[in-house]
Amino acid sequence: MTDIVSTAPSNQSSKTVAKRILTGIKPTGTLHLGNYVGAIRPAIESIHNSTDEAFFFLADYHGIIGCYDPTIIHESTKAIAATWLACGLDPERVTFYRQSDVPEISELAWILNCSCAKGLMNRAHAYKAAVDINAEKADVDPDQGITMGLFGYPVLMAADILMFNATDVPVGRDQIQHIEMARDIAGTFNHKYKSLFTLPSALVDDNIPLLTGLDGRKMSKSYNNTIPLFGELNPQVSAEKQMHKAIMKIVTNSQLPAEPKNPDDSAIFEIYKAFATPNEIADMRAQFAAGIGWGDAKQALFEKINTEIAPFRERYQELMANPKELEEILQMGAEKARRHSRKQLDKARRAIGIRPLAKLK
Ligand code: TRP
Repeated sequence: MTDIVSTAPSNQSSKTVAKRILTGIKPTGTLHLGNYVGAIRPAIESIHNSTDEAFFFLADYHGIIGCYDPTIIHESTKAIAATWLACGLDPERVTFYRQSDVPEISELAWILNCSCAKGLMNRAHAYKAAVDINAEKADVDPDQGITMGLFGYPVLMAADILMFNATDVPVGRDQIQHIEMARDIAGTFNHKYKSLFTLPSALVDDNIPLLTGLDGRKMSKSYNNTIPLFGELNPQVSAEKQMHKAIMKIVTNSQLPAEPKNPDDSAIFEIYKAFATPNEIADMRAQFAAGIGWGDAKQALFEKINTEIAPFRERYQELMANPKELEEILQMGAEKARRHSRKQLDKARRAIGIRPLAKLK
């Protein structure tokens, strides 16, 4: 990764100390090709091409903020763990765990709550957006429907990060404020008690493409324009067929076969670029100029994507059919994570004055 926007100047952790990369993935719903191209593929590539220490986790306690369906939380934790592993995340190389399996994180979150100004949380974008929606309605309390979970979301996220003294946190732009809040909370604690927490920086990679969706807008669940990566949970038809069907729905203009077409205003070409080599892209450009039919272009796109995804799909289905294997991998990750978190929580508790009164035997 080259074009990295760091939100903070390099801090005490730079140069001599190796980087520690940490990021959380909220397990709600299933993933689509935009998630694959924008998050999964670059994260796995960058980790496997570096010697940095890496912590990736399923943020299930963040998932329950706003999702009150236990089945969705459970099923998507399983699906999202299987997705990352199937796409090549190596659980030996990366500490890969489920947030709720590391209870020290929630304990640390409470301690950090006590070093976090309420006013800081009042300024969080997600909370302010929820308040703004209420403010537009007559006779509605500004905080209606807003839980303490939503309000305190950034504190739990700070605990995720500070627990492992992460130096670099790869996130989307929408999460930058949360990393700044984690720095703020760490600074308050370090100043009040002792210098325990590393100040983290957000890593936002500007090189990563935003994938175009079926309707030409950015691919996003909220626009209902996605191509599923491994299909829906409990599918009626095979994942490969679901992908094919979605690709056939990409919106095109009404140009006939044989008419020369402009690749640069085509969602098909836009998505093709995220999967093809420079030579293949040049060749597809030439085929557009030569008047490839929309149906043929879609079929070529499907085959290109499928070549990359099909081997992962097999592994995904294997893992989904073997929850025991998934659970074992997550438990191995939790054990690795807890080797750090037990020590860090102990230090935090001692710093605030919570420790045994005497040694017993
Ligand atoms: N809030 C992040 C998101 O919605 C997920 C997340 C939770 C996270 N804890 C984290 C990301 C810690 C980075 C570090 O995408």
